[in-house]
Amino acid sequence: MLLVLTSIPLWFLLASLTRRRNLGKLPPGPFNLPVIGCLHMLGSLPHISLHKLSQKYGDVMYLKLGTRSTVIISSGRAAREIVKLHNLKFASKVPLISGKYFGNDYSGIAFSQYTPEVKFYRKIINTHLLSPTKLKIYDGIRHEEQRRLARSLSDERGNPVLLRQKLHNMNMNVITYMLFGKRFCGHYNNTVNVDGFVQVIVDILRLAGVFNVSDYIPGIRWLDVQGLEKQYKHLMDRVNRHLLSILQDRRVNPPVFTSEEPIAFIDVLISMEEKLSDITIISLLLDLLLGAVDTSALLLEWAMAELFRHPVELSRAQIQIDAVVGKEKLVDESDILKLPYIDAIVKETMRLRSVAPLSLPKQVQGGPIKLSGYTIPNGTTIYINSYSIGIDERFWKDPLEFQPQRFFDLPDVDVFGHNFNFLPFGTGRRVCPGAKLGFDAVQIGLATLVQGFDWKLDAPGNMNMDQTFGLVCHKSQPLVAIPVPRLDSHIY
Ligand code: HEM
Repeated sequence: MLLVLTSIPLWFLLASLTRRRNLGKLPPGPFNLPVIGCLHMLGSLPHISLHKLSQKYGDVMYLKLGTRSTVIISSGRAAREIVKLHNLKFASKVPLISGKYFGNDYSGIAFSQYTPEVKFYRKIINTHLLSPTKLKIYDGIRHEEQRRLARSLSDERGNPVLLRQKLHNMNMNVITYMLFGKRFCGHYNNTVNVDGFVQVIVDILRLAGVFNVSDYIPGIRWLDVQGLEKQYKHLMDRVNRHLLSILQDRRVNPPVFTSEEPIAFIDVLISMEEKLSDITIISLLLDLLLGAVDTSALLLEWAMAELFRHPVELSRAQIQIDAVVGKEKLVDESDILKLPYIDAIVKETMRLRSVAPLSLPKQVQGGPIKLSGYTIPNGTTIYINSYSIGIDERFWKDPLEFQPQRFFDLPDVDVFGHNFNFLPFGTGRRVCPGAKLGFDAVQIGLATLVQGFDWKLDAPGNMNMDQTFGLVCHKSQPLVAIPVPRLDSHIY
């Protein structure tokens, strides 16, 4: 009996030692306060706060956000390691409360774990919407929208223009044509309040980026201290009602298919209705609207803001376009390959002004993983901080300077997630499926703004480059500038 009693503490000690050995060593990180962990350190720009912490604790950093174990990856080397060695275990999104609403109970892609369904949905999108062949079919509509942008800026010559709104409209028309076979801005029937709809998309992207305390301290969710769940619900009631009515209308009034008009993506989804519920269909449509409308508009706005701060770069880009395209026609997509300066400016903007710096967090699944000699337990939340990666001075010389020419010396650095020192579209299984469409949209948009116009600032002086954090980061003060046409008016 005595032997049994004395062996119990020994057994506990051994069990705890074994457990610790199995757990392995966690990455270093800041001190975690009880209950809130490091939530108080995130501030209003979490990607920058986390970047500063990573400079002290390293590019694989462990901290607690509330009760949630979290690892922040802040270098291309560590990003490569996790994707190359643990691609599948690192493919699921954390089921956040915002995703429950914005993903209609995780029934679309963007907010969901990596299930066979999500794989299937990604395949449908890659095949029927965003494959190179499909994108080619939509060349015409992109070209028309580019002209429409140029024309409307030319019409407003000499007057201050809110650039963001025009860019949103252009993107909205391209993606709604691809999804619904109709352009929403200036075309669609009047039941759609386009500005209101764009604003809803912008609001969702902003709210989806806000760290909701209830995700990290689940015990207080019922309090909804930040009032976020109320806002999620309010927005999604509107969006779901709207998208469902479009879907129902499409079923009742199916389009007459002709060989000239490409099949809209909504019709592809409807044709698969045995496999896709209505809720899945509208969630996929929403994922694509969220991905397409705001991101490229923001990047273009940031790129123009950088060019206004660096007029020498702007005039170099104009000189190159004038030499390659001339002044007798508007630049088009076939010219882009011959415009390395535009390519470099877009990449440099993506590097320095990472618009989706933390994107949505992933969660380790299917067992713990080893990373840089540390053990990351199963269930840990993982953020890749693409802002840190973009300004890592081990890879980028003078990383805080806007120097587009740097990309001339880095021909192998692509944007599509293969080069881990530059991840504007993410990487791995959940890499952005719209990367090519988005990148091309920013390039042709920038080339148009640069070739077509000289620009004056509405309020000259130091440009405010502050940003507002969200799933995508906006320029806090929208850019207002005055276009002065450079081409003959018949060209617009
Ligand atoms: C310049 C424009 C764009 C940027 C900077 C951008 C950036 C991103 C990033 C960083 C992610 C997260 C990747 C990750 O988690 O590793 C993402 C995901 C996504 N993007 Fe984009 N994107 C852009 C354009 C587009 C377009 C045009 C579409 C659709 C037509 C789109 C649809 C999506 C979708 C559906 C996801 C979720 C993928 C998943 O969770 O599996 N994006 N994007």
